[in-house]
Order: sequence, then C-alpha cells, then structure tokens
Amino acid sequence: MDTEIVKLSADIEDEVLLRAAGLIKDGRLVVFPTETVYGLGADATNAEAAKKIYEAKGRPSDNPLIIHISDPTEAEKYAYTCDVYYRLAAEFMPGPLTVIMKAKETVPLATRGGLPTVAVRCPENRIANKLLSFAGVPIAAPSANLSGSPSPTSASHVIEDMRGRVDMIIDGGECEFGLESTIVKIEDDGSLVLLRPGRITVDDLTSLGFVIRVADAVTDELRPGETALSPGMKYRHYAPSSPVVLLEGEIKKIVSYIRAECPESPALIWFDEDAERIKNELPEVVFYNFGKSSDVLYQAHSLFSLLRMADKGEHSVIYAPLPTKKGIGLALYNRLIRASAHKIIKL
Ligand code: TXA
Ligand code: MG
Repeated sequence: MDTEIVKLSADIEDEVLLRAAGLIKDGRLVVFPTETVYGLGADATNAEAAKKIYEAKGRPSDNPLIIHISDPTEAEKYAYTCDVYYRLAAEFMPGPLTVIMKAKETVPLATRGGLPTVAVRCPENRIANKLLSFAGVPIAAPSANLSGSPSPTSASHVIEDMRGRVDMIIDGGECEFGLESTIVKIEDDGSLVLLRPGRITVDDLTSLGFVIRVADAVTDELRPGETALSPGMKYRHYAPSSPVVLLEGEIKKIVSYIRAECPESPALIWFDEDAERIKNELPEVVFYNFGKSSDVLYQAHSLFSLLRMADKGEHSVIYAPLPTKKGIGLALYNRLIRASAHKIIKL
C-alpha cells in the first residue's frame, strides 16, 4: 500500500484534515497525532475498517480499541453513559482520559474485541479533534506502533512502524505528554477501577471525590490463570528487543553493580545529575539522558523515544531506573515494568 505522509502547517491544515476525514469515512487507515501518543485511526462504526487496524498493527483481535469522539456528549451514541461519566467528562474532557462503560450495539464487536464494554476518549490535541469533527464518525485508534513495540510519540516513530501499512500519516510534530491516556472503568456502583495510569493521576481523581481502586495488573504480574480486566494487560508491551532491567538504588551502587555484571555493550537510561559520573566511571556504557530525576513530565515525554533509540544500539541489556509509584510516576512505573517483563534489581 502507498502511504501518503503529510507534514502539517497552518496553511494546509484544513485541506489535509478534510482529505484525511474522507479516507476515514471511506473505511481507510489514517495515523494522527494526539496529546498522548500517535493513533492509528479508522471508522469505529465500520467493522471491516476496524479489522484493518488489527492487521496493520499485527494485534490480536481480542484486544479492544478505544473509540475517539470530538465531544464528550457523543459517548451517548456508543455507550450507556451515567452521572459519573459526565462528572469525569466535565473535569477531564477533552483530555488524556479514557472511560470504559457498557457498549451500545452501534459499536461493532470487531471494534471492541468482542467485549460487552467500550472505551471512549475525547482527545484534546487540536489536529485530532478537528479530524474527528470533519469525519463525523467516531475514530477507533490504538497507538500507531507495531504490536509489542513502544508507542510512537513522533512521526518518525510512526513511519518506522507503519509506512506501507496505512493510507495516510499526518505528521503533527511530537506528542505533548508521550505516554498513553489514563484508562478507568466505571463499575455498576459508580466507583472507578484504574486499568492504565497516565497523566491524569489517582490523586487527581480522588481529590475530586471519585472513588478509585488501582487494578492489580497496573503494578503486578498477572498470576497464572488470572484473567486480565483489560485484554491489553496480558500482552507483553512496550518491549524493545534488547532486554530491559530496572535498577533501584544510589548511583554508587548502580555503578558497582554494572561493573560487576560486566555486560557486553550495555545501555543505561539514567538521570541528568549523574551523567558526568556515569560517563567517567562507566565509559563502556552508552548513556541515554532521562532528564532531571525530579522532572517526571520530561521523563514521560522521552521514555518511548529513548527505548526506541536504545533498541537501535543493539545493546545486550538496557538498564533503566525503577520509578516511584507516586503521581505521574505510576504511569512510568507501569510502562517500565512491562518493558522489562518485571525484571527489577534492588541494590
Ligand atoms: O492515549 C491513548 O489512549 C492512545 C491514543 C491513540 O488515544 N491509544 C491507545 O490505544 O493507547 P491502545 O489500543 O494502544 O491501548 C488501549 C488499551 C488496550 O490495552 C486495551 O486492551 C484497553 O485499552 N481497552 C480498550 N477497550 C477496552 C475495554 N472495553 N475494556 C478493557 N480494556 C479495554
Ligand atoms: Mg498500544
């Protein structure tokens, strides 16, 4: 398939987005930027179009897609909305929040991976929002990476994975946040379950009076035989081909540990304040700067990009820090424990 790649600028934005909306209505695939990561979009109401998404990504067909809408009230057409949904929408939509509710029949089973529920999100990114308005249909969109590789946060990542597999790639620059949306499920009693942490944190939700429980799979490994609340949780995610190992401890101990292990061509994703020391004391290690240790927004923005970059270095191992589970740290923690398949060394 020929893939048209378009770099957006103000003078061509509407013309390009109208054309992209036409492709979506035609059942074709368009990659577009959002404030979290790039999405691989198709008409969510068209089962055949949704199936093309699974094919292009190499994604198992039981892993459901998020449907994107241009206005929170549109959710009513596709899900049984409730008071709690409207309270969430009033606080966080448009924005990086996905809400799971009971689905209406208007969403084909192919889009929701055969589940009775559907995930709904109203993105804040101007390009995404305009594309949705122009299309006039909800757009099903998973992250626009090949299944199992880190989500794309820039058009160059998308091009690496998706050129030749989709009809159009809209290059809208780097995604602002860089990790996927926070996903919550509304339970029958109106409480929430956090299925995937993101920029909107547990504290953000509890401080507004929402009752929320963090699903075990956000931080822990699934036990054998346990079923995942979110099908995506059971697949190894964000996985570079070099093994990732998470290290916790003072820099002195990290340096000694890597020296003692003596791996061939290791990489270390670590904090800015220790850069000099690492370069001096571990000259054989390729160092990838993860920003200041206190700057979680920078870390969120750069994590997937660094993992892709480190992966190209053909390292025998990629070491990275074990993040805290506090605030946005929980989103970093969740992505990194999956990238490392839960390999954590406490020093
Ligand atoms: O930020 C985002 O959410 C991005 C952008 C493009 O919007 N999208 C995204 O989609 O990350 P995806 O497909 O890569 O991740 C969605 C996750 C998957 O793990 C999937 O299993 C889960 O959401 N999911 C979707 N629908 C669900 C449902 N009805 N019940 C439980 N989990 C669901
Ligand atoms: Mg994904």
